[in-house]
Amino acid sequence: MQTRLLRPSEDTTALEQAGALLRAGEVVGIPTETVYGLAANALDPAAVARIFEAKGRPQDNPLIVHIADLESIAGIATEFPPEAQALAEAFWPGPLTIILPKQDRIPMVTSGGLNTVGIRFPSHPMAQAIIRAAGVPLAAPSANTSGRPSTTTAQHVMEDLNGKIAAVVDGGACSVGVESTVISLCGERPRLLRPGGISLEQLERVLGVVDVDRALEEKIDDTETVSAPGMKYRHYAPKAPVTVVFGTPEASADYIYAQLGENSGVLCFDDCAEQFRGRAVVETFGPANDEAEQAREIFDALRRFDETNCTEIFAQCPPASGIGLAVSNRIKKAAGFHVIDLTEGQA
Ligand code: TXA
Ligand code: MG
Repeated sequence: MQTRLLRPSEDTTALEQAGALLRAGEVVGIPTETVYGLAANALDPAAVARIFEAKGRPQDNPLIVHIADLESIAGIATEFPPEAQALAEAFWPGPLTIILPKQDRIPMVTSGGLNTVGIRFPSHPMAQAIIRAAGVPLAAPSANTSGRPSTTTAQHVMEDLNGKIAAVVDGGACSVGVESTVISLCGERPRLLRPGGISLEQLERVLGVVDVDRALEEKIDDTETVSAPGMKYRHYAPKAPVTVVFGTPEASADYIYAQLGENSGVLCFDDCAEQFRGRAVVETFGPANDEAEQAREIFDALRRFDETNCTEIFAQCPPASGIGLAVSNRIKKAAGFHVIDLTEGQA
């Protein structure tokens, strides 16, 4: 299959073309404010099956359903409780996915066999225009090969999926850079399943208490049942194994420097790069004090390691607050939660 690159900046019919392909049951890479999505008609089991095939994604991992107006929710979820309304008012359109009980109309292949469904109203104008042009809700996981870092440019999507999908819409680089926050409203209390573009602190301001799933901080065994099936898979990983070194930027940089071998790679803050040049493959992911910038750069930096010949990677990591929680979660997942914590034992 020839994958078409559709450019709305040069072709005024690009978004309409994307909508027509989606209506015809094809899979299309689309920009959102978080990461690129691999979209298909959420109501069409055959179209959704093509997403799983293109990504090589396990069948039990549910997809998020994307909408461009609040009226669509009634056809997707069986209820829209007050907590969901409060979240929608505060954060939609934007990088938040809300898990609710699903309507029968949403096929089981879309929900990974679950009776619940994740719903997101993205803020990216092109994402909204494509959903409207398609005229149906769009199921879309991140547009990467399963297991690889998510994609934040159309070029990344082409790297992973050229020849496997009908088209990619080029909307430039994503403004958030990490995926949406996933919160479940299907249990007794709201539960954070994946940190993302909306911080835990922001959610707590709207909801009060939010439980945090333990999959955020530790590796989940393949045989265990988890709240968000996607959290149990190895993810975001470059080919070389990653070790996270957590501490102040100075302490972690010094520790990493002492570990460097022949073919080491270092994923570090911009501020620390100089120390490693000439000694290791260095990829930076933003200033130590700017977690929003780190979020925009992290997936691109992880991807760049695969163009190098390093055989081990040491990674710095921001504190787990604000959007730093999402950044640190992605780095720790890339490391299979292999973390050396230099602050352990310190008060
Ligand atoms: O920002 C994003 O969320 C991007 C863009 C394209 O919208 N999408 C995305 O999708 O990251 P994906 O499939 O790569 O990650 C969705 C995560 C997975 O961990 C999945 O298991 C979880 O959300 N999830 C989806 N539906 C769920 C459900 N019904 N119950 C529990 N977890 C669910
Ligand atoms: Mg993903």
